[in-house]
Amino acid sequence: MINKRVLSGIQPTGNLHLGNYLGAIKNFVSMQNDYECYYMLADLHAITVKTEPKVLRENILNTAASFLAAGLDTKKNVIFCQSNVSSHTHLSWILNCIARVGWLNRMTQFKEKAGSNKEKASVGLYTYPILMSADILIYKATHVPVGDDQKQHLELCRDIATKFNNDYDNNYFILPEPIIPKFVSRVMSLRDGTKKMSKSDESDLSRINLTDTKDQIIQKIKKAKTDNDPIDEKIFDEKSKRYEAQNLIKIYSNLNSETPDKVLNNFNGKTFSDFKKYLSDLLIEKISPISEKIKKYRSDDKELINLLTIGSEKANNNAEKTMLEIKKIVGLV
Ligand code: TYM
Repeated sequence: MINKRVLSGIQPTGNLHLGNYLGAIKNFVSMQNDYECYYMLADLHAITVKTEPKVLRENILNTAASFLAAGLDTKKNVIFCQSNVSSHTHLSWILNCIARVGWLNRMTQFKEKAGSNKEKASVGLYTYPILMSADILIYKATHVPVGDDQKQHLELCRDIATKFNNDYDNNYFILPEPIIPKFVSRVMSLRDGTKKMSKSDESDLSRINLTDTKDQIIQKIKKAKTDNDPIDEKIFDEKSKRYEAQNLIKIYSNLNSETPDKVLNNFNGKTFSDFKKYLSDLLIEKISPISEKIKKYRSDDKELINLLTIGSEKANNNAEKTMLEIKKIVGLV
């Protein structure tokens, strides 16, 4: 009987940023002591958009190093590359036959990523949420820590699992629960508070990367867009529309593990140029040790690959068992 099992993943598509850290990795780390955890480098998801092989390899190693540097322990968690566990793609095909086209057509992330040129997007980008469902269901995960932007994909996963249960075996799949950070479920761009912080934003000033130096952090926060009004308790009122201000307050609140209201109280009346100094200091305190450790882990790629191989073997053992059960349920011999 499974009590609490976690699966989550990150695409190795570039340097991880503060959004990935606060939206996902920080929760990965906090769950590692209480749950059986599977953390995956979603490398097959990364190739839904054309990527140079050399760049992909670098991104995979950087992401693996970032997982470890942020505090994930390979003894407590199974850390692995998705492409090394073939049951993910095997199950994905079966789920392709369960999911409905209409369900995929509702996925907002596909619409955002494909943009106006939908016809030219890869089929992989379109069916990507089904592979993501397979990633979760192959481990019968009960909990999935993600940022708010993945919520719709999690709902799809639950719909697919429900339809599988209805079509074949009523109690087979457990419906996974998303674990989304309470106060900062979506970290926004430092240049535009209405856009999410993202690896693909052309401007590096829009994000804090986990590999940024102290000077880069100071410069990016100094240049972060805000407004001229001081900090007050009305920042989060719907009418205020102070999106950039809200974002900086929420970032501070999450990093310092306190509520946004407490941060507003502490800084009430201060200007954003004052507040930014405190925010840079806090970011440096939390992020710089991680960037130092990323360098350390990247100085021994052989060991990093070795750790991923060990993780993939463990993941494979578990996933293959599920795959055999599913084949039997579906009637494959
Ligand atoms: P990806 O690689 O885009 O993002 C990795 C994680 O970081 C979170 N995130 C954010 N959270 C808050 N604010 C932001 N600005 C921000 N940007 C990113 C994401 O929500 C995510 O949790 N499809 C997934 C990868 C994946 C996966 C899975 C996740 C593949 N299979 C199975 C969970 C379970 C993705 O593209 O994440």
